[in-house]
Amino acid sequence: MNKKIAILISGSGSNMRALIEASLNDKFPATIELVISNNSSAGGLLIAKKYGVRTRFIDRKIFDNNEDYDKALSLLLKEENIDIVCAAGYMKIFTKQFVEIWKNKIINIHPSLLPDYKGLNTHKRVLHDHQKRSGCTTHIVEPELDSGPILMQATVPVKPEDTVENLAKRVLVMEHIIYPLTLKRFILRVN
Ligand code: GAR
Repeated sequence: MNKKIAILISGSGSNMRALIEASLNDKFPATIELVISNNSSAGGLLIAKKYGVRTRFIDRKIFDNNEDYDKALSLLLKEENIDIVCAAGYMKIFTKQFVEIWKNKIINIHPSLLPDYKGLNTHKRVLHDHQKRSGCTTHIVEPELDSGPILMQATVPVKPEDTVENLAKRVLVMEHIIYPLTLKRFILRVN
């Protein structure tokens, strides 16, 4: 069972790297076929190239609206026979149509313990609320932002002296562990 994966990114791509690294293991049930970004200067594009993974940049500016953008994205994924789409720091909201077409085939990672702290600036809000713990969540994507069945979560402590940066780093360490694990379990459908 070897599934074809496309990873969607917008930025530095550290989760993407964790997925690519995991896929290099012969026993991993997936191949990373393609990395797609909506941001031409996403650092992750260079990293993907270093690993020999093909990359594509799809420019929002050449489309009239998000529906057309997502149609083009969907077409590309179909042409490439992609089985599963992994959003990894992809900072663009999917259209409802896209999520319908790829129902139960899109996984996302979010830097909070969902359903808490959906949206942006999660770490800042966690610190502001003096939470004692935070973490990250992988989930199946549904049309509503940062919603859908939760696949895996990891918790980290929040320390009184924490800054956004060091909390983000602590959470990222866990993201890099749970995302490859999530993908593997999702494909093998084990709990
Ligand atoms: C990660 O923390 C990821 O969870 C978050 O962006 C960061 C991307 O880092 N995603 C979201 O906030 C999506 N709602 P990376 O590019 O180094 O993987």
